[in-house]
Parts: sequence; C-alpha cells; structure tokens
Amino acid sequence: MSEQENKKRIFSGIQPTGTFTLGNYIGAVSHWGKLQEDYDCIYSIVDMHAITVRQDPAKLRQHTLEAYALLLACGVDPKKSIAFIQSHVKSHAEMNWILACSTQFGELSRMTQFKDKSQKHPDDVNAGLFTYPVLMAADILAYKADLVPIGADQKQHLELARNIAQRFNNKYGELFTVPEPYIPKVGARVMSLQDPEKKMSKSDENPNACIYILDEPDVIIRKFKRAVTDSEAIVRYADEKPGISNLMSIYSVVTGKDYESIEREFDGKGYGDFKLAVGEAVADHLKPVRDEFARLIADKAYLKECYTAGAQMALNVSRKVVAKAYRKVGFVDSM
Ligand code: TRP
Repeated sequence: MSEQENKKRIFSGIQPTGTFTLGNYIGAVSHWGKLQEDYDCIYSIVDMHAITVRQDPAKLRQHTLEAYALLLACGVDPKKSIAFIQSHVKSHAEMNWILACSTQFGELSRMTQFKDKSQKHPDDVNAGLFTYPVLMAADILAYKADLVPIGADQKQHLELARNIAQRFNNKYGELFTVPEPYIPKVGARVMSLQDPEKKMSKSDENPNACIYILDEPDVIIRKFKRAVTDSEAIVRYADEKPGISNLMSIYSVVTGKDYESIEREFDGKGYGDFKLAVGEAVADHLKPVRDEFARLIADKAYLKECYTAGAQMALNVSRKVVAKAYRKVGFVDSM
C-alpha cells in the first residue's frame, strides 16, 4: 500500500460567493494547507451549491476562478492535495441522485439552513435549495472521506450525510465511509467587528463588520479602528467583553501570542493602540496571500492546468465509488 492510502482522507468544500472573509480564512481555509501534510486532502470550490441561490452567471464564473486562486494562495498545494471545481466532476451529480433516493423529505424539511435561506429568498425557494444537503453528502461520500472540516453552521448537514451513508449501507450493503466532523485544534470563531455577538459574515449590511482577505491594508486597518469594543478600556479576555475578546483572538491567531502576553503587551495602553496593532498584524499576515493571489489570478493558463488536473484526479477517485453505488442499487453495468 502506498503512503497515500494509509492516510485518512479529508474532504471540504467552499462556496465561490465573493472573496473569503477573515472568518473563512482563520476558521477554515488557513488550516487546509497544514492538513495536507498529514491527510489525503480533497478540496472543492462548490459552484453547484452556489446556484441554489440566484447568481449572475458572469460573476459566478469569475468568483469561481477567484475562489480557486485564493485556495492556492492560502496554501493548498495542487501537487499535495486534490483541488478542483465541483461542476467539473460528474460524479457529484450522479451520486446526488442516488443519495436523494435514500433521503427523506421530512429530514430535509428539518434543516435549519433551508428554513433560514427560504425565508431570505421567498421568491426563489427552488428544489435545489431544498436538496442542497444531499449534494453536500454526495461530495463527501463519493470520496469516502473520513473527516470533514466544517463550521458550526454545517454540523446539521454533516449529521445528515452520516445518516444517509448509514442508511444506504444498511439497505444495500457496506459501501460508504461514515464521515466524522474535523474540528481544528486552534482556529477561533471570528465574530463581526460591529456586532461581536454575531459571526463575521459577508452578508452583513455594515461594510465595517467584515474583513475580506483581499482587502487593502489601509482598509483592514480602518475597519479594525472602527471595531465595536466596550467602555472599560482594559485589554483583557472575558465573556462580558465580546468585542475585545474577538480582537484578542484574531490577534492571537495572526501573531501566535497567547492571551496573557497580549494583556501584558497592552497593559496601560488604550483601545486605540490595540485596535491599530490588530489591524496592522492582520494586514501583514494577509499580505503574502494577497500577493500570491494577484500572481495566480494573472496566470489563467496555470490555474486551468491545476483545476483540470485536479478534476481528473477527483474523477478517478469518485467514479469507482459511483460505479459501486450504481451496481448496489441495481443498475445494469454500462461497460
Ligand atoms: N455547505 C458548505 C458551506 O456552505 C460547503 C460544502 C459543500 C461543503 N460541500 C461540502 C463543506 C462538503 C464540506 C464538505 O460551508
């Protein structure tokens, strides 16, 4: 057995909806590069999931390419991992159908994200939005992934994928690996800079609430300067100080300093100094990502080479699983 086969397999996906936020980066994508040393990693830009809400086609195409370039800029190495665009690999659509027929209407109706999104877009509650978690299960199960790095908002979907896998295995005989969530050891949950009780999100109406990883340094610094804090004027980590605690946790991730040393560093200093330091540290930290992104996005031929090879590798892995699933449900062999 090759070394590759001894490693546990990780699958994760990210939607190509605009550029990643500091939250996506710290909570997810910044870990993806490190994971590729110890795991057999498969990462996908999930454009098929993106069209469950209305998209401008030209923008979706551009955002998908940008998201792919960003993935590489954040440290995913297309030679160490399989990095591809979901719609390039037909196994996802094929597996989606098989799994849809092992998923109950009732369980999809209980998905909180469906309820939230259908309230937000009452004029477009399409069937794809409803069956979104089935496609996500297909992404994961088609590669027999052992582990799936996800944020809290995707836990219910992963739980459903586990149920679908188990149900299929019971009905038709062992095929799918039942995936486990992968929770990174470090990796703070990044909160909104304007309302630190809420997760940092691209959909926030307040442009100062959210840092994008391609924001220019002066924009990053300005947003941090405007971050909501409290009136105590002491830099310390505490539940009742969500604004300062959020800034401390961001500062800690980008500098590697622990909370105690941050408290010491800013002892006797005001929030203005602290916020500036956080802004500068984040801007410095993201500079190599921004530079690498600029280089990659200008080299469309290289990007194409990477995502084409990635799709081919992804197909090689997933088509075997799809073929087994087809046989198990009783489809006649086609070749
Ligand atoms: N639904 C995920 C999100 O919005 C993205 C996603 C699609 C995903 N397929 C996946 C994540 C498979 C992990 C595994 O965040």
